[in-house]
Amino acid sequence: MVTAVASQRTVTSKAETTQLEVNAPSRREFLYYIWGASMVLFLGEATAGLIWFMLPRFKQGEFGGIFTFNPAEVPVAGTAPASVPVGRFHVSRTDDDGLIVLYSVCTHLGCLPKWVETNHRFECPCHGSKFELDGKYIEGPAPRSLDRFRTMVTFEDNPIATTNDVGDPILLEGHLIVGIRIDTSDRIKRLGRV
Ligand code: FES
Repeated sequence: MVTAVASQRTVTSKAETTQLEVNAPSRREFLYYIWGASMVLFLGEATAGLIWFMLPRFKQGEFGGIFTFNPAEVPVAGTAPASVPVGRFHVSRTDDDGLIVLYSVCTHLGCLPKWVETNHRFECPCHGSKFELDGKYIEGPAPRSLDRFRTMVTFEDNPIATTNDVGDPILLEGHLIVGIRIDTSDRIKRLGRV
């Protein structure tokens, strides 16, 4: 009997000892854990932000992104432009065999000039501004000619030709086009009515 009581005390004593071993973390340890968790959170947010920043903001074929245009749909020189409403641009082929991609929004107050075949020009329905096939200002309140989008043309026998910084037409000079890419995030403003 005495042995049983002694044994029970030993067990209780062991349990007490075990309880003492799992002490709560000290104030210093607690702060250390909080700091570690904050660092993990910070690094996770920074990584997510970097990935988001590196992803393209617009998909291909969506206004604000890159469009591929079928070379077979490039108009004959001097004829009506090919309009792509979803990309908000017109592809024009000028009389001197130049290719130019015009932003379809009027430079006055943002209406949408339409190509009027009978007058062979763009006419804005809002305040009457008129523009030539290459977007050059003719008349009306628009402060400058139509804006252009930077375009990359790949020729069968030549390297890529890209629109220059003032938006001049790309001269085709009889070369066979095998690819056209239009960057609708890169709008080039003309310097006035030229
Ligand atoms: S918005 Fe085109 S002329 Fe005013």
